[in-house]
Amino acid sequence: MRPDSDPPQARAPIGIFDSGFGGLTVARAVMDQLPNEDVIYLGDTARAPYGEQSIADVREFTMECLDHLVDLGVKALVIACNSGSAATLRDARERYSVPVVEVILPAARRAVATTRNGRIGVICTEATATSMAYDDAFAVAPGVQLFTVACPKFVPYVEAGITGGPELLADAEAYLRPLKAAGIDTLVLGCTHYPLLTGVLGIVLGDDVALVSSAAACADSVYSVLTRAGLAHDEPREARHTFLTTGNPESFSRLGRRLLPDLITDVIQFSEPWKGDWRERAWS
Ligand code: DGL
Repeated sequence: MRPDSDPPQARAPIGIFDSGFGGLTVARAVMDQLPNEDVIYLGDTARAPYGEQSIADVREFTMECLDHLVDLGVKALVIACNSGSAATLRDARERYSVPVVEVILPAARRAVATTRNGRIGVICTEATATSMAYDDAFAVAPGVQLFTVACPKFVPYVEAGITGGPELLADAEAYLRPLKAAGIDTLVLGCTHYPLLTGVLGIVLGDDVALVSSAAACADSVYSVLTRAGLAHDEPREARHTFLTTGNPESFSRLGRRLLPDLITDVIQFSEPWKGDWRERAWS
């Protein structure tokens, strides 16, 4: 465990980390459930996409960003990024004294509770598929058969603002064909961007396949972890949401606003975090 560790306080913000702005799907779900909580969101846009990089690099980048959030005084860490969660699943909980919630275990638990025939599909980035993190998460569930497909074209579609149209439909059909052939009845959306593709996924798979969003499952887990730890901010108040990016704040705002209108306020560039009083700027 890092030596820094002050005990977390209920009035401190929740820290949400993602490789870029896709984790705003998780942030939105967390803010919907916990409207009184201050949130600091850190997107490592300068080094994204993580999904195409080695697990070792994704692990290093993720830990570095989580360290920054802990240094800002957050009371809990949310790893919104599936690739980042896959790369740090074991280590992050041991490293920090604040509670750590990631996306993979909550999604796996929800999928197990949802499936009727035990045949579960996972779609995700290459990094998440290679890590086998979902295989590990499902290993303890008796009678479950897992079918994983990496869908590298989906993130660029979403980032280009494309969530429909014939090309995307054709790619979705190609990616999902083996999962349909395997007879899955439940599909885990194992990437931050995929909740924005539920329309096309639903058309390809039909009503008999349940879609499990790792973003929604993660937000439920954040709620219960904070409540159980006595760290929830229950009284009604105007919450403060701070968005930090290691990349260009204008493009982060533009993309974020296009995909999730009304969520983003100002975006601050988070560079050289060792300079200046970030705790003061991010929340006070
Ligand atoms: N946030 C990543 C994930 O959920 C997707 C975007 C990226 O590849 O950086 O895996």
